[in-house]
Amino acid sequence: MILNQEQLSFFKVNGYIILPKILDPDLCEKARDLLWSSLPKETNIKREDPSTHVGPFIENDLEEDVTNLRQGYKWQLRSIGTDQLMIDLVYSEALQQIAEELLGKDTLVKPKVGGKTMGQHGAAWPGGPVDPALDNEGARGIYATLPYGDKEKEPDFCHSDGHPFNLSLVGLIDDVLPNGGAFKVWPGSHKRLYPTFQMQYDQPRIAYYEHLPSYKGIIQSEAYEEEIKKVMEDTKPVDCCGSEGDVVLWHHRLAHMAGHNYSNKMRLAVLGDFIKKDLDENRAKPPQDNMWQDWSEDLNTAPETYSDEMARSQKLID
Ligand SMILES: [Fe+2]
Repeated sequence: MILNQEQLSFFKVNGYIILPKILDPDLCEKARDLLWSSLPKETNIKREDPSTHVGPFIENDLEEDVTNLRQGYKWQLRSIGTDQLMIDLVYSEALQQIAEELLGKDTLVKPKVGGKTMGQHGAAWPGGPVDPALDNEGARGIYATLPYGDKEKEPDFCHSDGHPFNLSLVGLIDDVLPNGGAFKVWPGSHKRLYPTFQMQYDQPRIAYYEHLPSYKGIIQSEAYEEEIKKVMEDTKPVDCCGSEGDVVLWHHRLAHMAGHNYSNKMRLAVLGDFIKKDLDENRAKPPQDNMWQDWSEDLNTAPETYSDEMARSQKLID
């Protein structure tokens, strides 16, 4: 086992676990190189000049193609999601083992080097997000958030993801300062949101028609809308900032957001999902009495207690 029992317990209660320095530093460096090398030659943003990294992207540097999106403060390189480098980084032996310790041994779909990548179909519906599960055989990609500069401060707003998956990963490929755009999680929200869905891993959707534009995409239950509002009111989010190589693993129903970047440094992360081979047969089932039914025996038997020291290491308490 790589995870100890306290880590399993913490994940069970809070829906996330931060694992320090687990990404290979050489591969993190190569991933940063890969992101910068995806730029066309004549851009305003220059790697060697951090003053040019402050967002939003200027018109000349914009890219609408969602497989390599540069828009506003977001830079999302998805076309490299199944490159050998990305698979070695996001789905390393250690990380696959850890995911199996949570989800069960030999239960995971293996990523495919050179396979299909996220975003090739464009947005899931007009004006909607890109579907991370559609035809994606590897990582979601490298996601960067430019510094906000003098942009007005915005409130946090959390969501849960709409596509079917079991467990997800956000890994820092460079140091990220507090309030520097790191992944933000609302601890414990997975337990409160899980029962509000009609389906364990999926959601009903309504088709888009140009002449009937009022409804499109995911339909959330009223219970979900009420509960996520309460979560935002009563739960203090955890800013998963940290050092190059740190990873946060999170439950598929956990409320989260990509943090606002009020630091002066670009936030660089890799994202990827873990999917079980039985996701297809389980995705439309209603929420189960035991929400850990599809998870490992070790996780099922882990007690829901942990030390203050553990909570501190997970940024849950000061
Ligand atoms: Fe999300």
